[in-house]
Amino acid sequence: MLLEKKIVLVGVILLTFSCKKEGKITPFSPSSITFTQPSNFPAPHYTFENNQLTQEGFELGRYLFYDPILSLDSTISCASCHAQSHSFADHNIPLSKGVDKKFGRRNAPALFNLAWSTSFMWDGGVNNIEVQPLVPLTSPHELGESMTNIVLKLNRSNFYLTKFKVLYGSGQITDQHFLKVLAQFTSMLVSSNSRYDQYISGKINFTSEELAGYALFKNNCASCHREPLFTDYSFRNSGLESVIQDSGRYRITQNTNDLGKFKVPSLRNIEFTYPYMHDGRFTNLEQVIAFKSNGIKNYPTLDPLLKTPFAFTKEEQKALVTFLRSLSDYEYTSNPKYAEPVR
Ligand code: HEC
Ligand code: HEC
Repeated sequence: MLLEKKIVLVGVILLTFSCKKEGKITPFSPSSITFTQPSNFPAPHYTFENNQLTQEGFELGRYLFYDPILSLDSTISCASCHAQSHSFADHNIPLSKGVDKKFGRRNAPALFNLAWSTSFMWDGGVNNIEVQPLVPLTSPHELGESMTNIVLKLNRSNFYLTKFKVLYGSGQITDQHFLKVLAQFTSMLVSSNSRYDQYISGKINFTSEELAGYALFKNNCASCHREPLFTDYSFRNSGLESVIQDSGRYRITQNTNDLGKFKVPSLRNIEFTYPYMHDGRFTNLEQVIAFKSNGIKNYPTLDPLLKTPFAFTKEEQKALVTFLRSLSDYEYTSNPKYAEPVR
């Protein structure tokens, strides 16, 4: 696949006679925007091929992401469990609460750099960003709603009818159009301005402790948490338990070699996304590193890279945590572009 550094995606000009006044775009002319690939990142997996990226499409996706209209009882939005201040993970709770205060089974992952993801969910049960929302939308532990009802509610809203009409020219909002604009928002969530990125691009120096942590990281962690995205998107058993509680990837493949395997999570913004692991069992990074160091449990599917304990010294563990904090992107968690929109 041929991809330029900057993928220029041409937007649809629905009404060619609409005009731009002093940089202000009239509501009738969806304006194409570009997906910017950070210079130290590879080409993204999702290329908006059948989903032309426009400012209006992205904004519409943002309204929907923050709108509880999507849930059965209008109490929960995507943002209820995916908070920007936490890099779009949940607010410091191991398991998220959906409609009727029902708890799900897994910790809500952070959302960023999803355009590079080859699969979604801890077990990779969904492989396309455009259809991913079908799971939370219809799950009784999350938004608990049906697609038919969501589309019905949106079609009754003048706010959404007008906005969708500008984009797609039709008087009816369809499932497809709804899912496409939501994907424009989620796939534009790009985080690439951490201290680590600034160090890599030569803008700043690391402290000696960060450097020590980075060296340990490259030697022991980067084969799974691969730079620069800090995941290789594979499924691994990282030794959390010797008696499997959640079968993980096995739930999808029914292959016993996949028992207890979960998608390697990215470690970018890890400082904001506590608690940790697929079930939120660890409350802080020190606990995670102590576990990685001496707590890994054996199981037939345990990853071969983890068979010998790392046994890091206290000093090494501290350096690793310091390095992990260099992956925090404060610009991302406070970027007004991703914040709750005003209506
Ligand atoms: C009640 C809490 C809750 C709500 C509401 C919710 N999510 Fe999630 N989200 C989760 C949990 C928990 C997971 C992990 C599920 C799993 O792995 O089985 C998840 C996973 C995801 C993922 C996969 C991330 C990855 O890296 O694999 C995406 C994308 C996502 N949610 C987007 C959304 C969108 C879009 C909405 C709104 C339509 C939404 N979520 C609503 C809790 C929630
Ligand atoms: C064999 C692959 C592998 C190696 C090597 C590895 N990890 Fe992990 N790591 C994983 C997997 C898989 C998970 C998710 C486990 C789960 O939740 O079931 C994980 C989870 C984490 C988490 C929690 C992420 C979150 O969002 O909850 C942190 C932090 C982490 N690893 C840091 C490290 C560090 C530091 C090292 C090196 C000392 C390391 N890992 C080595 C596979 C690996």
